[in-house]
Formats: sequence, C-alpha cells, structure tokens
Amino acid sequence: MASVSVIGHPMIQHKLTIMRDKDTSIASFRRLLREIAHLMCYEVTRDLELEMIPIETPMAHMESPSIKGKKLVFASILRAGNGLLDGMLDLVPAARVAHIGIYRDHETLEPVEYYFKAPSNLEDRLIIVVDPMLATANSSIAAVDNLKRRGANNLRFLCLLAAPEGIKKFTEAHPDVPVFTAAIDSHLNEKGYIVPGLGDAGDRMYGTK
Ligand code: PRP
Ligand code: URA
Repeated sequence: MASVSVIGHPMIQHKLTIMRDKDTSIASFRRLLREIAHLMCYEVTRDLELEMIPIETPMAHMESPSIKGKKLVFASILRAGNGLLDGMLDLVPAARVAHIGIYRDHETLEPVEYYFKAPSNLEDRLIIVVDPMLATANSSIAAVDNLKRRGANNLRFLCLLAAPEGIKKFTEAHPDVPVFTAAIDSHLNEKGYIVPGLGDAGDRMYGTK
C-alpha cells in the first residue's frame, strides 16, 4: 500500500545538486529550495480531483474545471519545512497552513514537539506535510501521528532528500501516506545525518549552527 515517488525532473535534480554543494550561500540555498518547491508542488498535486463549475466569461457562460473539496492544508515541520512551504504557497496561495514545531534531540534523535497549530476540519481536507529531510523519520512520523490524532485521514508527505532507513520506517508507520522525494541517498551516518545529503537543512537555510 505504501507509495514512494522519486521526482526525477531534470530541473529539480540540477537545483538539488547546487543545494548540496557546501559552498552554496544561504541566500541561494533558500531560493533554490523555494524554486524546487514550485516544481514538486506541481507533481504532488497532479492528481487532485476536479469538478465543473459554472462561470461567465466576457463572451459566454461555460462549465469550467475547478479543484474539488475544501482548501488544501500544507503542514510545515519547523523549521526547515518553512522553506518548502513558502514555495508551495506561491503556487497555491489559498491553501491553509499547519505549523508543527518538532526538533530532534541531538543525542537520542527522538523528536521533541514544542508547537502545533492547524486549521479546523482536518478530517475533510487533503494535507500535504512538508519537510526537506527524511532521515530517521522520527520527526515526520511524530508529525503525521499528531495530525491523525486530530482527525486527518488524507495525507501526503513531501521532502527533498530521504534516507533509505527513513523511508522504510515512515512507510511502515504510515503505509497510507504517499511519500514524494527528489532523491533517496545512500545511508544515515552515526549521528543520524543523511549521506551524502546536504548537511543540516535548518542551519543552511537560516545561518545558524
Ligand atoms: C531536521 C529536519 C527534519 C528532521 C529530520 O530538523 O528539518 O525535521 O531534522 O530528521 P529525522 O527524520 O531523523 O527526524 P531538526 O531536528 O534539525 O530541527 P530544526 O530545523 O528545528 O533545528
Ligand atoms: N536533518 C537535517 O537537516 N539533515 C540531515 O541530514 C538529517 C536530519
């Protein structure tokens, strides 16, 4: 039942290569993540259901396609999720936003949750959870657990880079949540970082260390 899609579009792959480079500036890193989010948003929403709605053009009445159902929710796992979120909102400005504050403890790699704020009626909406990094999957599993506890039942997870270990753990925990990523890297190192990866996504986006 679990579905994992690697989005191999050449524009995404080219931009990702620049992001991985350790000498890429913070400004470029942030801009590239936003641009990749545009391209990935296109893929993750490509099968959204449409309905015909009546409109009046300046010339005539017509029935025209419109996305069916309640507004989408983009759920950003703080901090780095916000880099993808900004690009997604460029494309879907009317989307609702959930913010989920989670960081992983550097020693245990266990997720520490510190904030949660989401729109109402999660049970009626498609929720796209965004975080550039799927490493151990502890953070993303906790985020999806939290959303499901509040009624969410139609979710997708979008990331930039994934480790094989994280993909396995996430899809076992949430086989009903399709995963979209731009790349699946080699492995996790002993500190839980993706190799070859791109380093710490939050630090590279915001200039922290
Ligand atoms: C990073 C990243 C993910 C998490 C992935 O966040 O943005 O949320 O690590 O790792 P995992 O799959 O092993 O849980 P981080 O914990 O560094 O939080 P921060 O950006 O707020 O510092
Ligand atoms: N979080 C990151 O930001 N980078 C990794 O490689 C793993 C987790």
